[in-house]
Amino acid sequence: MQNNRQINKNGELQHLLTIEGLPASMLHHILDTAESFVSVTEREVKKVPLLRGKAIFNLFFEPSTRTRTTFEIAAKRLSADVINLNIGASSQSKGETLLDTVNNLSAMHADMFIVRHAQSGAAHLIASHVAPEIHVVNAGDGRHAHPTQALLDMYTIRHFKQHFHELKVAIVGDIMHSRVARSQIHALTTLGVPEVRVIAPKTLLPKGVEHLGVHPYHDLSKGLKDVDVLLMLRLQNERMQGALLPSAQEYFKYYGLTPEKLALAKPDAIVMHPGPMNRGIEIDSSVADGPQSVILPQVTFGIAVRMAVMSILAGS
Ligand code: NCD
Repeated sequence: MQNNRQINKNGELQHLLTIEGLPASMLHHILDTAESFVSVTEREVKKVPLLRGKAIFNLFFEPSTRTRTTFEIAAKRLSADVINLNIGASSQSKGETLLDTVNNLSAMHADMFIVRHAQSGAAHLIASHVAPEIHVVNAGDGRHAHPTQALLDMYTIRHFKQHFHELKVAIVGDIMHSRVARSQIHALTTLGVPEVRVIAPKTLLPKGVEHLGVHPYHDLSKGLKDVDVLLMLRLQNERMQGALLPSAQEYFKYYGLTPEKLALAKPDAIVMHPGPMNRGIEIDSSVADGPQSVILPQVTFGIAVRMAVMSILAGS
């Protein structure tokens, strides 16, 4: 998949489609910009006029709560007009192609498309098709990428742990079907995290994952030893073909994060999850709601990070 399409010839971000290939300086720029927006989201009047008059279309072809809502809030806090398409009830269900839908919305003077689609590459396809003044953000495509989720995860890590180059980070769970894991791996390695571990049963770990610069583990207890950050993943049952796991109970027994397992990590380790969470499958409720969990701050930071991405794009 081509990544250079997202950087224009002036070296500015034109689209955000994937973390892969983005330089560390760009990731830091997005995180620093997000930091300036965190204070906006804490004010009584939570708005800045940066995207006034811009039309941002939320094109979600897959269900989403957090991502769609936080993009909408972020766009509104930048004073943009946000149009949420109810895709299930739209012309796609009448047989219109994706690009025809996009052509029609472009004819309504869209400035930006936020795209979530079950097909890997959907956001790239749209980005290669639209006029140069229109920006595209990938809000999750198939099992390929989810760059804003990885960026909000990096923001959260930086907020709680400061220095990427001192950290041991473990990504735990269904790496195989996870677009979040792929984007997290690219972000963590680009930002200089010296040790990124991926912990999963053999059936949920893609072959050759070590070529991405990560260390694979099949034993959760070994993999969690001394880690600073735990990135938990949801079992993506909707993407599994055939029986990859004996049962949810069995999975929880070996890979579920319980207080006992968490105790193997550093005492001040933080626990993250992109949501939606399956309590009692990948994570025990006492951990999800416990003192080391930063799962809800992730959601809050997601607004500032999405504000940063949209304002950087529309400013280029
Ligand atoms: C993730 C997604 O949709 O890829 N969720 C999210 O965006 N917050 C992870 C998941 O669905 O498990």
